[in-house]
Amino acid sequence: MSPVPVQPEVSVGTARCLEAAGALEHRHLTILLAMMDEVQSYFMHDLEGGIAAHAEHPEAWAYVGMNVEWALAQLSFVRGCFPATAAPSFIDCGAGLGFVAMLARGLGFRPGGIELCSRYVALAERLFPWAQTFEGNVLTYPHYADHDVIFYYGPFKDEGLQARFEHKVEAEAKPGAIIIANRKVSEEWRSSSQFRLLKEDGVGSWIFQKC
Ligand SMILES: C[S@@+](CC[C@H](N)C(=O)[O-])C[C@H]1O[C@@H](n2cnc3c(N)ncnc32)[C@H](O)[C@@H]1O
Repeated sequence: MSPVPVQPEVSVGTARCLEAAGALEHRHLTILLAMMDEVQSYFMHDLEGGIAAHAEHPEAWAYVGMNVEWALAQLSFVRGCFPATAAPSFIDCGAGLGFVAMLARGLGFRPGGIELCSRYVALAERLFPWAQTFEGNVLTYPHYADHDVIFYYGPFKDEGLQARFEHKVEAEAKPGAIIIANRKVSEEWRSSSQFRLLKEDGVGSWIFQKC
């Protein structure tokens, strides 16, 4: 039986009511975040047997969900760089099952995700239809210039391809666009006057803006 879609607005409304009633405490949120990571971990193991190269695309990492709290912190930081009334366009490059794009939607971004693996795209469409995950290759995607925020969590196992992808994003992003880079391998952007560092977020994770 196919799942009945629940409008996310309902869940957001419920969360707000709980918060207003003082029922959502910090420890409740911690429990919910941990549960989300358990769900992601279930899919990671069920789909490819754990942290591994992709079965059909050995140059790529298979689905490994980014830690939800970490992703939320990055997305919230970047959301604060835009006016509250705006709905910035967001794209996850190598979107997996759409978790990050869905978090972005909840924060007021207009989300989308590019994903190479058709199995993952089919699952993402069923899990999170509002995340707008579509099948495509981040190396040939022609619309980076359309987005206000470009996110990735190291899609490539092959570091040469990862660097090629990063250079393409940096060349094609529009002025003002913010790049949230995780598991980044190339460093040229740091000495380029084209980019402004907004936040250093641990090893290989940077948030920077194209000038
Ligand atoms: C480490 S997972 C990250 C998933 C998601 N972005 C997240 O943070 O939870 C990397 C994803 O990139 C996808 N991927 C790898 N190479 C790709 C390519 N060339 N084009 C599009 N997606 C790709 C993989 O299939 C995998 O789902």
